Amino acid sequence: MVNRKTLADLRSRRWFAAGGMRAFAHRQRAQQMGLRREDLLERPCIAIVNTWSDLSPCHAHLRERAEAVKRGVLLAGGLPFELPALSLGEVMVKPTTMLYRNLLAMEVEELLRSLPVDGAVLLAGCDKTTPGTVMGAISMGLPTLFCAAGPMLNDRYLKPGEPARQVGAGTHTRMFWDEYQAGRVSEAEWVQLESHMTRSPGTCNTMGTASTMTSIVEALGLALPGSTAIPAMDAAHTRMATTCGERIVQMVWDDLTPRSLLTRGAFLNAAAVQMALGGSTNAAVHLIALARRAGVELTLDDLDAMGRKVPVLANLFPSGDRLMEDFHYAGGLPALMARITPFLSLDERNANGRTLAQNLDGVRALDDEVIRPLDRPVSAGGALAVLRGNLAPEGAVMKASAASPQFLRHRGRAIVFDDPGEMNRACADPALECEESSVLVLRNAGPVGAPGMPEWGNLPIPKKLLERGVRDMLRISDARMSGTHYGSCILHVSPESAVGGPLALVKTGDLIEVDIDARRLHLDVSDEELARRRAAWQPPKQTVARGFVRLYREHVTQAHEGCDFDFLQGTAPTAEPVIY
Ligand code: FES
Repeated sequence: MVNRKTLADLRSRRWFAAGGMRAFAHRQRAQQMGLRREDLLERPCIAIVNTWSDLSPCHAHLRERAEAVKRGVLLAGGLPFELPALSLGEVMVKPTTMLYRNLLAMEVEELLRSLPVDGAVLLAGCDKTTPGTVMGAISMGLPTLFCAAGPMLNDRYLKPGEPARQVGAGTHTRMFWDEYQAGRVSEAEWVQLESHMTRSPGTCNTMGTASTMTSIVEALGLALPGSTAIPAMDAAHTRMATTCGERIVQMVWDDLTPRSLLTRGAFLNAAAVQMALGGSTNAAVHLIALARRAGVELTLDDLDAMGRKVPVLANLFPSGDRLMEDFHYAGGLPALMARITPFLSLDERNANGRTLAQNLDGVRALDDEVIRPLDRPVSAGGALAVLRGNLAPEGAVMKASAASPQFLRHRGRAIVFDDPGEMNRACADPALECEESSVLVLRNAGPVGAPGMPEWGNLPIPKKLLERGVRDMLRISDARMSGTHYGSCILHVSPESAVGGPLALVKTGDLIEVDIDARRLHLDVSDEELARRRAAWQPPKQTVARGFVRLYREHVTQAHEGCDFDFLQGTAPTAEPVIY
């Protein structure tokens, strides 16, 4: 193999191979850590960006995996350096990890920029650590390979007198919560359930945002084929991490940068994968943010067009009834991609140096129940629909495959909430006036309003309706929804209410119409009345006026634009630091 780069081209040599007192100090301080002078001068330096922390169960094993990556780097002749990065575990971080995705992206870009490294392996996998680390790496532009944390193991729940159920993270928590609220799960069982569904370290094992985003990164070509579905606790996961360490060294010599892989075709492949997976609606935000970092044109309309033609084939919760371990055994993402080749651009390249056509050659799905054939999809209707209308001029999204058929075309009276506390209290109140046909609306939950666009979009079903057996209603918000959740939820309404989007003008009792086939979201109020309401509208008071939250509110873009910071989008090169 012919290397495109030589030792003299390595970026790290600016730190270690120069003359003068500064380079002397760099070598001196590296030797202080026990490193040998000749290794600093003769090997590519590889960053292992690690999102491990003691409060991130999805990444709990990544310290050990970093050792496996190091082994691979050393075997291939590189020199590894583990760099800790912001650990965004979805469940513990408040108010929402989305508030910090861009902070992680900035951190990764600046870590790679400011230190003597030639390439990077990203160890991540929870919902925001995947897009956050990859966004930063795209902007920095060094050769980068993504090593997914991998999903947690499947779990089973046994209840006397009932058949055993496969249970997974997120989806079943919501199901059991609704049953508990309705009085069908006892207090003792509810406590017992705490130790179920999340059986091991690793990311959520449903097709939630984590698995959607790691799959998307694999489809983009930034992760090795078949790597992202390997369960976190499988020995194959450790071996895969070592292979990542080995591969990144060659990627440095080949100068295989993210932007050399990230074409529009690669992004459309990722969109096709999202649809075939029945993936999380959150991907609509992250995929557009990634594309903008790579300088690729990608809009909600591209995603909607893909959603209209690619059926859901992955039979995984919440659209189906299996879990990620099943998906791995069925062949993982390569097997799914082999099933949707008519919708893919097969000339796109992967970080392994091969084209998609070469990587899919001879690949086939091993279990037709888990990865369905095209003529027997889980849902022919598509995973994602983008709606527009006078309530969402810039778009809103709905995961049609996880919604109830009766709400795909619906007209109902709005019940409007201005904050989640008020909403939760009202929904628990038996006096709330509501019917199954009512449309629940939550506003001030978008990127600026919340801030950080939390996953509040799976609005609770009012308790009195739960007790009557109602399990789904039409719900609308400018928030996001957990990818593990399900229901007829219209999300990401853009522009959001806090910046004056039409959602701010809805009143309880207004009629709202939804037609998924027509991609229509309409507030049945006259233009004159809406103009009157707009004239009287006041933006909500913002309480936090300092620090990162202030920066966030001032610079975050709207959902249809990816919620990146306006000053981080685009392909302006990240300047190399001056070394004196
Ligand atoms: Fe981390 Fe679901 S909470 S992947």
